[in-house]
Amino acid sequence: MTRTAGAGEALLEVDSVAKSYGALDVLTAVHLSVPAGQALGIVGPNGAGKSTLLSVINGTERATAGTVRFGGRDVTATPADARARAGMGRTFQVPRPFAHLTVFENALAGATAGAGLRGRAADDRALAALAMADMLGVANTPAGALPLLGRKRLELARALATDPRLLLLDEIAGGLTEAECDSLVATIRSLHTQGITIIWIEHVVRALLAVVERLVCLATGVIVADGEPSEVMRSDAVRAVYLGGAL
Ligand SMILES: Nc1ncnc2c1ncn2[C@@H]1O[C@H](COP(=O)(O)OP(=O)(O)O)[C@@H](O)[C@H]1O
Ligand SMILES: [Mg+2]
Repeated sequence: MTRTAGAGEALLEVDSVAKSYGALDVLTAVHLSVPAGQALGIVGPNGAGKSTLLSVINGTERATAGTVRFGGRDVTATPADARARAGMGRTFQVPRPFAHLTVFENALAGATAGAGLRGRAADDRALAALAMADMLGVANTPAGALPLLGRKRLELARALATDPRLLLLDEIAGGLTEAECDSLVATIRSLHTQGITIIWIEHVVRALLAVVERLVCLATGVIVADGEPSEVMRSDAVRAVYLGGAL
């Protein structure tokens, strides 16, 4: 398939993807088709393979088997930096800001190293990303001096600095107070409204359900539920995961 995905077509297609580390099978036969513009949530117990799935999607890790297509192109063997330039942005579960650099300089690093921009174009892109992440007011603050919500927003800004069509969020709401979480949810919802396709892994289900229109549950490397969020949360498969005490 070589066509370019448009509105309503799958922007991302994960087909029969498996990932193993030696004898450890982390993902087995994962199928996921995400239309352009959709906000998709992923829940599942610790160790289910959620972060690994994001890594296989954005190229931080390479799938052991199966294919990943983005915008109609097979990117299974494409390195992460090229996938970023093609329009994937990702936040990491453990943020990795450059603590000694300012917020602006961190976003600029995303625009240059991530998106391959230079000069004025990189500056403009970094500023746009800070605006989208509601971080312009602290642009000159050293990243190391930010409180937790600010560090979360900076991680978001760094991902947005690649001007992504697909934004991959890995537990960005963890550890926040309820009010902080609500303000981050408002920001993510506005990104969704702007048409950015979102895949969001989150344990804070309340935050997730305020944004996503589709929910997937991943358990021991396979998708055990996929559909309308409240139905998925009520499903037998997800109840079983909850009863296991792991979510
Ligand atoms: N680089 C790696 N090498 C070996 N095992 C890994 C590696 N990354 C993840 N794992 C293992 O894969 C499993 C799934 O991890 P992960 O994708 O982080 O799960 P989740 O994000 O759902 O908590 C865990 O058992 C973890 O220890
Ligand atoms: Mg994880």
